[in-house]
Order: sequence, then structure tokens, then C-alpha cells
Amino acid sequence: MAMQYNEKVMEHFRHPRNMGVIENPDAVGFVGNKTCGDAMKIFLRVEKRNGKNIIKDIKFQTYGCVSAIATTSITTEMVKGKTLDEAYNIGRADAARELGGLPPIKMHCSNLASEAIQAAIDDYRKKHKNIKENV
Ligand code: FES
Repeated sequence: MAMQYNEKVMEHFRHPRNMGVIENPDAVGFVGNKTCGDAMKIFLRVEKRNGKNIIKDIKFQTYGCVSAIATTSITTEMVKGKTLDEAYNIGRADAARELGGLPPIKMHCSNLASEAIQAAIDDYRKKHKNIKENV
């Protein structure tokens, strides 16, 4: 039986936002999905604005399914312009809500986006841990 995705999910799958690579990124996050073996890589460009670290640009590459691509597409839109702390706290439920819902069996796929973004933020913080940074 075909998986039932809503129109918004299909639109993000067909025209994913922010898919690609950032050359010389400020941080990279890579995670795998234990359930299916798919993978997600996130690239970040971080900029200091008014003393805060802001996500200026974000791109992703994935071996993921419709649900993974659509949730990552929308999550990258949601975190652009946010502080690293704000971005860290945007989870799969936020992405699924913004997409108008995902089939319950595909919710595990939506972990890839938020986990890869968190891994990239961890990478950024690790590289800058000796520098006093605001969030
Ligand atoms: Fe692997 Fe969806 S089935 S991410």
C-alpha cells in the first residue's frame, strides 16, 4: 500500500530547500538512523550578530526517504536566522507539526534532521570551546 503523505510533505520532498553543500563550513553534523540505516549530513555557516551566534546558512545531504527529506527541508528553513540554542531545541515534533503531520510509522525518519543539526552545533561548540561564546 502506498504511504499517505500530505501535499506539503510531498512539495518539500519534490523541491527540498537547502539541499547541497557549504564549502568550508563552520561546522558539520553527521548521523545515521538506527532503524533503517539511512544517513544525514548537515553543514552550518554561523555568524555573530549582536553578540549571538546565528545560523546564517545551512545545507544538507542525505540518503533518506520522503519523510527524512521533507522534515530536513522544513527544519533547515525553521532554524535559519535562529541562535544555536534556539536551533538545538527545534525537534522532530516541531517539524512534523509544521509539515501538517507525518504517517506515525515514518516519525523515526524525522529524527535525522534534528539530530544532525544538534551534532553540527556540538561540532561548532567543540571547535570554539576555548573562546567565550554567547549562544
Ligand atoms: Fe530511513 Fe526514512 S526510512 S529515514
